[in-house]
Amino acid sequence: MMEEVAASLPSVRLVVGSPDRMRDLGRALAKLLRAGDLVMLTGELGAGKTTLTRGLGEGLGVRGAVTSPTFVIARVHPSLGDGPPLVHVDAYRLSGGLDEMEDLDLDVSLPESVIVVEWGEGRLEELTDDRLQIVIHRAVGDTTDEVRHVTLTGLGDRWAGTDLSALSA
Ligand SMILES: Nc1ncnc2c1ncn2[C@@H]1O[C@H](COP(=O)(O)OP(=O)(O)O)[C@@H](O)[C@H]1O
Ligand SMILES: [Mg+2]
Repeated sequence: MMEEVAASLPSVRLVVGSPDRMRDLGRALAKLLRAGDLVMLTGELGAGKTTLTRGLGEGLGVRGAVTSPTFVIARVHPSLGDGPPLVHVDAYRLSGGLDEMEDLDLDVSLPESVIVVEWGEGRLEELTDDRLQIVIHRAVGDTTDEVRHVTLTGLGDRWAGTDLSALSA
């Protein structure tokens, strides 16, 4: 039993009832993040990945509104204070995988940034062992269109022992 507990990954499953609540979740999540962190968001188009990232940007206190980029696939939002910049990658439409990211030539140090990657459903690429994996599902058969099921899982040493349950408050 002890081994089972030690081996389990930090994970939390949330029901998010509206876009505003999704933003709140992003703001709360920002408090857990630090420079060098990678967050991978998976979910279909319209799941709420960008909405969550918007809250994250607000929580981190970065410049510029987080939007869905139409032509660029990555955008750097510098901190308004002394925190890390947010690098927002919208890889939803990326066909060639995250290798393409190396060609982006972002004018920022990735280890000193918080990186958020929006990714299409089922595309979980291992950019690094240490990452916060967030999967957003539209509720099937729920009573309103606005219900989303969000599962957050911390992978790697970075997240081992982290208590994600604070996010369910
Ligand atoms: N609970 C919810 N969380 C997030 N977005 C929601 C929710 N309910 C409805 N929506 C709507 O769904 C859409 C999500 O869009 P967006 O965040 O751009 O998704 P994605 O980046 O995953 O394609 C928005 O129009 C938003 O208003
Ligand atoms: Mg998006």
